[in-house]
Amino acid sequence: MSAPAPRLPSGYRLVRHQVIDSTNEEAKRLARAGAADRTVIWALAQTAGRGRRGRPWYSPPGNLYLSLLLRPRAAPERAAQLGFVAALAVGGALAALVPDLPELRYKWPNDVLLDGRKICGILLESESGEEDRLCFLIVGIGLNLLVAPPAAEFPATALAERGLPAIAPATALEALVAQFEHWRKRWEEAGFAPIRTAWRQRAVLGGAARVRLDRRTLYGRLIDIDDEGALILEEAGEYRRIAAGEVFPAQG
Ligand code: BTN
Repeated sequence: MSAPAPRLPSGYRLVRHQVIDSTNEEAKRLARAGAADRTVIWALAQTAGRGRRGRPWYSPPGNLYLSLLLRPRAAPERAAQLGFVAALAVGGALAALVPDLPELRYKWPNDVLLDGRKICGILLESESGEEDRLCFLIVGIGLNLLVAPPAAEFPATALAERGLPAIAPATALEALVAQFEHWRKRWEEAGFAPIRTAWRQRAVLGGAARVRLDRRTLYGRLIDIDDEGALILEEAGEYRRIAAGEVFPAQG
């Protein structure tokens, strides 16, 4: 007999797989076939999990792999703020499930760190139609419950590797989607301001960093995020607004 399905907030539908290529890929296939807003695709393992910039995402059984298929009524740039909503949901779920949680931080744009190491990555993918109207947004979340990748560009960790109690993927999924709905509602009702405030309370800001853009790398100090979610970086005495990129330690 299969385990009972995790309970999701009202309005969410769950699609479960033992193994799939990538929950983001499946979410896109379902979205193109007309699947509804707030469909959650969950797999126990992925054979072709993807991270940002096409990097593979280590996806053995024991961790959490899910994609939220969303159809927000928002322009693509504003919908991308749901990546911050997802990061807060991961943080809230971990805080609720793990007693004595080590230091939890958010790294721009959408990473979650535990004791300075990446425990969760979030991959946003979207498709737009005429006049840049958003058709769907996929928020893919990989949370290392049991194992972290053996080699990763940014140092990685997993709950179990920190000696913390094991959490079943189904338990983490339930808590995470409940938290996501809480913060998504806040975002829908009050906009980005409360999301930004909560994210900044635990953000990695103020220090030196290397920021990789599409075609070049900048070195500077992480100042803040603005009221749309863009990173403000101080580089050689000048403030730059960065809408998309990746943050790494200054050295390395
Ligand atoms: C990153 O590079 O930090 C983003 C990683 C996102 C991984 C998740 S796992 C579930 C979903 N399916 C994928 O193929 N990728 C995302």
